[in-house]
Amino acid sequence: MSQKKAILKLDDKEFVLDTLVGTEGERAVDVRTLRDTTGYITFDDGYANTGACESKVTFIDGEKGILRYRGYSIEELAEKSTFIETAYLLIYGELPTAEQLKSFKARILDNAQIHEGLRIAISGFPSTAHPMAVLSATLNTLGCYYPELGTNERAHDLAQLDEAATVLISKVRTLAALAHRAKEGQPSVFPKPGNDYCSNFLHLMFAQPHADHVVHPEVARALDLILLLHADHEQNCSTSTVRMVASGGANLFASVSAGVCALWGPLHGGANQAVIEMLEEIHKSGDDGSRFIEAAKQKGSGVRLMGFGHRVYKNYDPRAKIIKAQCDKVLKLLNVNDPLLAIAMRLEEAALNDPYFKQRNLYPNVDFYSGIILKAIGIPTEMFTVIFAIGRMPGWISHWKEIAESPKQKIHRPRQIYMGNTERAYVPMEKR
Ligand code: CMC
Repeated sequence: MSQKKAILKLDDKEFVLDTLVGTEGERAVDVRTLRDTTGYITFDDGYANTGACESKVTFIDGEKGILRYRGYSIEELAEKSTFIETAYLLIYGELPTAEQLKSFKARILDNAQIHEGLRIAISGFPSTAHPMAVLSATLNTLGCYYPELGTNERAHDLAQLDEAATVLISKVRTLAALAHRAKEGQPSVFPKPGNDYCSNFLHLMFAQPHADHVVHPEVARALDLILLLHADHEQNCSTSTVRMVASGGANLFASVSAGVCALWGPLHGGANQAVIEMLEEIHKSGDDGSRFIEAAKQKGSGVRLMGFGHRVYKNYDPRAKIIKAQCDKVLKLLNVNDPLLAIAMRLEEAALNDPYFKQRNLYPNVDFYSGIILKAIGIPTEMFTVIFAIGRMPGWISHWKEIAESPKQKIHRPRQIYMGNTERAYVPMEKR
């Protein structure tokens, strides 16, 4: 609580409101008592100016392009850390010692396989099922195989978090790969004990039965970087969903399963898939990108340049800067010659110089480049958002933990301004 007070004048009366200041100087007017004292609520459609919680996980300064996990800059983590080490940092708040990391990795490896019942359940989905639907359903189902880890009894579930977190981080990758293989009609393969997290994921996705899938270290590194860059992003749509579900007391499996559903939309995690679909559509129509850019600028056209813009970053997306460098490296390494890439580069160039995009601060975001890398390394388009979900898992777990550990945690329950019909009498069928 800060010493500063805010004075609100309403109906000729003055109300004094407390203010809050975060560790990075972010300021908020505390409106928690407003309805009781004034009869008013605050209105903020889309929560663009609402702080819904105090959090110690991730700091973002959208104007300056700053992103830090637990105080460490994304640039430094991208250069020096790995996805698994960063996952530990997010969940436990500190970088692990060598011993802690070794044991965390060993527990993740031990959990890589899934119960045969779940494997059979996945094969029962129709081949038309989107892997995000399969992932959300099977993450929730996974909890049924570990009833002792997800009881909806808060203190108990919190005490089991170490186990539940490693089960989820490890098995989300296996479930994702199985969803892909089932769709392709391919039999499942087993994880390889000697592989790192990402090489194992690629092995689970692409290996032929009884044959290893050899992964170039630079490709595994690119995937690891994509996961690390997506590992958390404070109160975005899916994380807020996880916190919302958790606030009602739901266990970790149910909460992250809801997070997957929230992530699926094209304005959020689904943007990486939407980027490639947009590029394919442009290519098919014979456009070099210019017509599409003009359409995206027309109000009411319903066309958006996917992979551009961000609710929070208004100068640049720091993750996009890091991933662009990796994107260039991977494309060179794999000697990719894809006409979609040429269109992507033209869109990027044109949008960065076009006044419409400049005035609205619409820069390429992380999903613009991650989609391009994922395509280059052979990941099917429908799996792109699934990769985002694998990356976001540690973030969702950290936020679930933050909610569960907060003694004053209330169920999330926003209010509304009702704009519907006022009370009216029921109309009998014959009079309608
Ligand atoms: N293409 C064309 N115009 C756009 C775009 C775009 N991608 N994004 C925003 N605008 C325009 C929008 O029409 C509006 O114009 P005007 O002021 O004339 O009405 C203005 O820019 C502000 O847009 P907004 O919709 O109010 O901005 P927002 O903060 O609500 O939306 C966004 C942010 C990310 C949903 C949006 O920029 C968008 O739809 N981008 C494309 C989808 C995308 O790439 N999403 C991934 C985000 S990164 C992954 C993640 O963290 O979830």
